[in-house]
Amino acid sequence: MNYNKKTVKDVDVKGKKVLLRCDFNVPQDKATGAITDDKRIRAALPTIQYLLDQGAAVIACSHLGKPEPSFDKWVKKQSEKGKDPASLTREKWEKTLEALCMEPVAKRLSELLGKNVILSGDVVGPDAQAKAAALQSGEIMLLQNTRFEKGETKNDPELAKAMAGLTGADGVYVSDAFGAVHRAHASTAGVAAYLPAVSGFLIQKELEFIGGALADPKRPLVAILGGAKVSSKIGVINNLLEIADIIIIGGGMAYTFAKAQGGTVGDSLLESDWLDYCNEMISKAQSKGVKLLLPLDTVIADKFAPDANSQVVKNGQIPDGWQGLDIGPETVKAYCEAVRDAGTVIWNGPMGVFEFDKFAVGTKAVAEALSKTSAITIIGGGDSAAAVQQLGYADQMTHISTGGGASLEFMEGKELPGVACLLDK
Ligand code: 3PG
Repeated sequence: MNYNKKTVKDVDVKGKKVLLRCDFNVPQDKATGAITDDKRIRAALPTIQYLLDQGAAVIACSHLGKPEPSFDKWVKKQSEKGKDPASLTREKWEKTLEALCMEPVAKRLSELLGKNVILSGDVVGPDAQAKAAALQSGEIMLLQNTRFEKGETKNDPELAKAMAGLTGADGVYVSDAFGAVHRAHASTAGVAAYLPAVSGFLIQKELEFIGGALADPKRPLVAILGGAKVSSKIGVINNLLEIADIIIIGGGMAYTFAKAQGGTVGDSLLESDWLDYCNEMISKAQSKGVKLLLPLDTVIADKFAPDANSQVVKNGQIPDGWQGLDIGPETVKAYCEAVRDAGTVIWNGPMGVFEFDKFAVGTKAVAEALSKTSAITIIGGGDSAAAVQQLGYADQMTHISTGGGASLEFMEGKELPGVACLLDK
């Protein structure tokens, strides 16, 4: 994939209407709807501010959550989940949509920008059309949740055309929605067929750091892979075995590796279908000269709880009734040493159940080691980003990705539709 894409700086936006796709898919408090983390909104500010300063009229848009825009499909899905069909009223469905309206995002964006954000009641309907037509240079409006349109997730060309049409005769499409670039949707990819399409500063930065680390890393390149499941990291392990010098395995998936190697893992997370795969990866690493580091010891617990009793055992020697929840002290030492002389470190997935203080030690130690190395440190979005933030090391990393699924697919070496559709430099 070509990461060298045109950016907002390569196009003239003065006096033009710009359709700006952001990833404003922010977490909200279920009861009040209040935004509980506005990082994604803040991450889009440099591009928005630049466009406004350049004299563009900005038509921002984003998805929020996973609304079901068809009442019939919503009923079907809820029934499949075991809900009583008689209770599935149109009124309830409308409430689910209401809960995912863009009002809170518009309000927060307005506070952060210090200026009015005009909110549209629809995506491409009469309200959006009227407000877009009246929008002046230096003003910003926000469309309703793009997933309220049935065509959005289907990448419907008609919807894409209608969205592009909001910009008038000489509009521009700017994508800064890194978190959604792995989705081939109407607003993330389809619109690029109808407008000159360039990246914003956020996508530019993500491409520069993650793309740079994958294409031409400062060596040695150390990849730290953790998280619960081997099955969700297959693509990343496969791809990084072609690129990295050292691969470090931690987190829940380490127990499937331990079992594959003939160990006992007690009640730890285990994916029995992936045992052969783990052994194949170990052999592949050997044949490619990639150092694959597996845990030496494990902190085990007698239940999955913050106050569980714990002890340290050798890797692959977990008794029945116990489960591994963190890497042990010997492993911490070995992993931190491997990171110390790295040129680049890519980290995706925590080393243990960092949400419980008692089992956050391994993840914390790795985060601390990363904060001290002079290597370029790149943290994949999702859990690893949350861990680094929660543990207080966020400021000391070179780059923390804003995309969970997107950064994972990027590290898998997959083409990202929301990047591929942008103009090459
Ligand atoms: C995310 O939160 O990872 C992005 O906004 C993508 O959301 P999605 O998984 O609902 O497509």
